[in-house]
Amino acid sequence: MSDIVVLSGSPSEFSRSDSVLKYLGTLLKREHFTVTHISIKDLPHEDIFQGKFDSPAIQDIARLIQNAKGFIVGSPVYKGAYSGVLKALLDIFPQDVLKHTPVLPIMTGGSPSHLLAIEYTLKPVLATLKGHNLKGLYLLDSQIDKYKEQPIIDDDILHRTKKQLQYFIEIVNNQASHVV
Ligand SMILES: Cc1cc2nc3c(=O)[nH]c(=O)nc-3n(C[C@H](O)[C@H](O)[C@H](O)COP(=O)(O)O)c2cc1C
Repeated sequence: MSDIVVLSGSPSEFSRSDSVLKYLGTLLKREHFTVTHISIKDLPHEDIFQGKFDSPAIQDIARLIQNAKGFIVGSPVYKGAYSGVLKALLDIFPQDVLKHTPVLPIMTGGSPSHLLAIEYTLKPVLATLKGHNLKGLYLLDSQIDKYKEQPIIDDDILHRTKKQLQYFIEIVNNQASHVV
């Protein structure tokens, strides 16, 4: 079992959103959380595109998410929404896969004009899966250097990212103390 599951929904080989997610995973590990990082690229594509919700690999991941204390999901903006491959995966998860789970949604985009894609596209689908959405983060390509270990090169968004992560940690910890 893993405390936090991080899911990257970018199909790109060298992904900006994935670099941000990996950085968040590093920060969480420093706070002594166990983190499992899953990339859509590593999952069985055929199972996803054939809608095989009973695929053992998909069921394993769904179980991992169901047992996690928190979930972070990231996606690039594609045509004003999150990536289609991420949707194809979310479609075959159980309907309540995120029940009682704090969720930190993250999107990266080339343009500030799609800032609200996180509100209108990603958050609604996560809420449908019963996730408890935090505010989330939208980062512009110009604010990311995907080749750096700490990829957020804009001080303001870095500050906001750390603040959101801290808030996420507090909610995860509070939730865990209520369960015990
Ligand atoms: C197919 C495609 C569609 C895109 N559509 C948009 C878009 O509608 N709005 C936007 O702001 N950026 C758009 N972008 C830019 C990406 O969202 C942006 O570069 C993102 O950071 C890429 O993330 P990744 O490297 O994790 O895949 C698009 C990029 C691609 C490849």
